Amino acid sequence: MKIFLDTADINEIRTVARWGVLDGVTTNPSLYAKVGGSYEDILREICGITSGPVSAEVVAADVEGMLREGRAFAKLAPNIVVKVPMSEEGLEAISRFAEEGIKTNCTLIFSANQGLLAAKAGASLLSPFVGRVDDINMEGMDVVRELVQIVEIHGLESEVLAASLRHPRHVTESALAGAHVVTLPFKVLGQMIKHPLTDKGIKTFRDDWDKARKAAADKNAAEQSGDGQRADDAREAIKTDAVATKPGA
Ligand code: E4P
Repeated sequence: MKIFLDTADINEIRTVARWGVLDGVTTNPSLYAKVGGSYEDILREICGITSGPVSAEVVAADVEGMLREGRAFAKLAPNIVVKVPMSEEGLEAISRFAEEGIKTNCTLIFSANQGLLAAKAGASLLSPFVGRVDDINMEGMDVVRELVQIVEIHGLESEVLAASLRHPRHVTESALAGAHVVTLPFKVLGQMIKHPLTDKGIKTFRDDWDKARKAAADKNAAEQSGDGQRADDAREAIKTDAVATKPGA
């Protein structure tokens, strides 16, 4: 399963690229509004950081406007994917982009049927929004599950990109549902790394290491100074520490 970052923030994208887990990026007008500047410059910069797909969203409501915006995005870099909202106009634009060899990500999908239509029109990526469905007290992950099944049963070429993910559990469930891609806010990716027992374990190992090094240095110093009793005490301290650090001690 590929992991995309759902952001237009260059620093976040650089950080995740350094972690070695970045497969692509999705942006949208709201994410762009958070950082401001030139959308085109931001897209170019993102495409310089990742060679994976980078979604750039059209805002025009009519087909010709969508095509104009999408073609301009596609010229910015070879890994641009044009993000088109689900609608009658959106489907037509997706189909025209497919004829021109421009890849698309159909966004704002809230039902498996919408996803099926987007796949038929030729979208490379189908983006069901999970969190926004959860927000209205329904089960957003159901759409991901159904769409993955439909894509597999009918051998469709599109990939299901689970979007609007709000917490780490959404990621696990998307992976178990067979989503081909997830797109995540930086915060959720950070939450995936963390576990309180990992933090506790790292601290214990560091403390034990420091204690053992100190005891070994004390023993060495005592032996050098010819103080037999101190050397014996230090040796004893090392043994006691070793027993204390054994799991279950
Ligand atoms: C991704 O392509 C979507 O634009 C994004 O995941 C939407 O997330 P939100 O519902 O948290 O705004």
